[in-house]
Amino acid sequence: MPEQPDRYLPREAANDVTDESDDEERTVVEMTGGRLKDAVALVTGASSGIGEATARALAEEGAAVALVARRKDRLDALAVEIGRSGGRALALQADVTAEAQARAAVRRTIAELGRLDILVNNAGVMLLGPIVDAPTQEWDRMIALNLQGLLYATHAALPHLLAAAQDASRGVSDVVNVSSVAGRRARSGAGVYSLSKFGVNAFSESLRQEVTARHVRVSVIEPGAVRTELFDHVRPEVRERSTRSFANIEMLQAGDVADAIRYVVTRPRHVAINELLVRPTEQEL
Ligand SMILES: NC(=O)c1ccc[n+]([C@@H]2O[C@H](COP(=O)([O-])OP(=O)(O)OC[C@H]3O[C@@H](n4cnc5c(N)ncnc54)[C@H](OP(=O)(O)O)[C@@H]3O)[C@@H](O)[C@H]2O)c1
Repeated sequence: MPEQPDRYLPREAANDVTDESDDEERTVVEMTGGRLKDAVALVTGASSGIGEATARALAEEGAAVALVARRKDRLDALAVEIGRSGGRALALQADVTAEAQARAAVRRTIAELGRLDILVNNAGVMLLGPIVDAPTQEWDRMIALNLQGLLYATHAALPHLLAAAQDASRGVSDVVNVSSVAGRRARSGAGVYSLSKFGVNAFSESLRQEVTARHVRVSVIEPGAVRTELFDHVRPEVRERSTRSFANIEMLQAGDVADAIRYVVTRPRHVAINELLVRPTEQEL
């Protein structure tokens, strides 16, 4: 095996947390400076789109980043890329709809990176289509990931976020929940997706009230249309209709949303950006 620079610790493969064993291969890549120096972030859905761009942005700011998703090869590649740019990343393969895996991802983050300051609940799926005659497995998938996955990751992370907010380094910690414009406005053809994102907003506001006095900031990010793989999972007949409505507008890039998240988590301790709606300029609804 070729010699690795010091900043690369064993990095043959992503750290699989689909079981609880400690002997999995892992990817740990070291490190840089910036506004989030000494902070540790965990980003769910880091294997593509907004999550991938957010992981890059937080690493650029100096955070060590735990990358969580199911596609191990993508996480590995991103961890190596972040490492080569002088950052530090830990690739953790997990399906966050399984509570044990969400919990294990948080536990491995603490074990490998030492703390947790920022949780970005980004993993999500948008299976659009009319309510009438919908395949109800699509509803199950959206509820399982957009709501339960977010709840499990948040529950597992909160003790560590509360502890991080009390120590001297930043004196504050962050839960960033990626919701949607669909979390503010329900539309036909997006009933259960909207249900899930309205739920994210409601849960976020309740949590905010519970923990804000202890300096855990809770934020919702509500993107409009972003060019990512999200639309690829929509049934073809529905996808055609929904992509048509965005055909003539310049959609957001994943990096635009990552910029918003970067902004939220780099505010001074006394500033909490609780809600941020980010649409393409040309998007009307
Ligand atoms: N794109 C938009 O227009 C838009 C607009 C508003 C809001 N959003 C929200 O933005 C978030 C990110 O979406 P995106 O647009 O970046 O789409 P994306 O590229 O499809 O990203 C979704 C991410 O979630 C991960 N994921 C899926 N199932 C998972 C599971 N069971 N456990 C762990 N990770 C899982 C995927 O990775 P694996 O498949 O590797 O697990 C992927 O990394 C979602 O919450 C979405 O609702 C997107």
